[in-house]
Amino acid sequence: MIGRLNHIAIAVPSLAAASAKYRDLLGARVGQPQALPEHGVTVVFIDTGNTKVELLEPLGEDSPIVAFLAKNPTGGMHHICFEVPDIAAAAQTLTAGGARVLGDGTPKIGAHGRPVLFLHPKDFDGTLIELEEV
Ligand code: CO
Repeated sequence: MIGRLNHIAIAVPSLAAASAKYRDLLGARVGQPQALPEHGVTVVFIDTGNTKVELLEPLGEDSPIVAFLAKNPTGGMHHICFEVPDIAAAAQTLTAGGARVLGDGTPKIGAHGRPVLFLHPKDFDGTLIELEEV
């Protein structure tokens, strides 16, 4: 069902500081910040050639990564995102197999303008998994 690794997301306390480190110290191709109010985050994508790194900073009081950063004040790996060809079919197969889709179970539009959903980390060995339809 899953295809290539689309990105690895890292929650950071400061998007500006993290972006500067990736650009200036690691010499990475760092994109422009993108506010995603519907997801409660501002994101920066870093193209590493074979995949991307997504830096996440909280946006607003209800940001879903506020609690994560409270537990991990210096930041940390937040989720990994796999590509799927049909997200509705993927959700159906997963829920039929006993995995939990977060939220109301319906996909939202993600940072790349495509449908995404998240799977409960307790169902996947402590890792939050995002699926993106491509
Ligand atoms: Co993501």
